Amino acid sequence: MKTILVINSKGGCGKTTITTNLASYFAAAKAKVAIMDYDSQGSSLQWLKLRSPHVARIHGASAIPQKAHGLHSLQSWIPTDTEILIIDSPGGVKGLLLQDIVGKAELVIIPVGPSTIDVHATADFLKALLLLGKIRARNVKIAVVANRVRSSMPVYEPLERFLKSLSLPFLARISDSDAYIRAAEQGLGVFELGDATCEKEQQEFLPIVTWLRGHMSGGPIEATQKVVDIAFARRQVAV
Ligand SMILES: Nc1ncnc2c1ncn2[C@@H]1O[C@H](COP(=O)(O)OP(=O)(O)OP(=O)(O)O)[C@@H](O)[C@H]1O
Ligand SMILES: [Mg+2]
Repeated sequence: MKTILVINSKGGCGKTTITTNLASYFAAAKAKVAIMDYDSQGSSLQWLKLRSPHVARIHGASAIPQKAHGLHSLQSWIPTDTEILIIDSPGGVKGLLLQDIVGKAELVIIPVGPSTIDVHATADFLKALLLLGKIRARNVKIAVVANRVRSSMPVYEPLERFLKSLSLPFLARISDSDAYIRAAEQGLGVFELGDATCEKEQQEFLPIVTWLRGHMSGGPIEATQKVVDIAFARRQVAV
């Protein structure tokens, strides 16, 4: 099983949106996918409840103790045949909880919002993350994704310079688009929307998938993978 963690201490930067779109992409591509929600708001699990039984199945688990019934172990259960586990984390995560969550992941995606405040907060979060011994000891791979990008905003330049100095990849600029909201309302991701108008959103998301796949397979992804991905996206639209 490969574990992908979507995290940033900044609230509202798109952790749940990236989590659910990645889960739906991999599930539609026939992988056995589970989401572990560490957020007491349970947004990823709410999204799963909206999901039709006619689309690819995704298992949901909560890492938050269910105090009323003592069902923590049951709720956090992950099927043994899970191939890809995606962890959605809450805002403001730090200290022991940060260490605990990071200790479970091999691949970390950090979404960052478009404002200067988001960029500064993310730089601080990255510094805290890189200081964790577990990141270095376990060779955890980290990448950053800009989310809710409205135009070609120069605000990312300082972040890009910072990432370059740390040799961390800046994978994608996800636009601020109704397609993400429309998909979420139906318990779907943009790759599952039967809608040709979201081809742009599908394209902009692919570099994230390609980076993850490259690390999941343990080898470099060939250029043809993109073609496969686009063909896959078109098939989904046609279904
Ligand atoms: N690319 C996007 N385009 C349009 N709306 C978006 C996009 N990304 C996120 N949103 C919306 O922004 C809001 C916050 O996004 P999301 O819930 O994914 O953030 P989060 O980091 O999980 O927040 P929290 O810290 O509260 O868990 C949601 O209403 C979501 O639908
Ligand atoms: Mg969330």
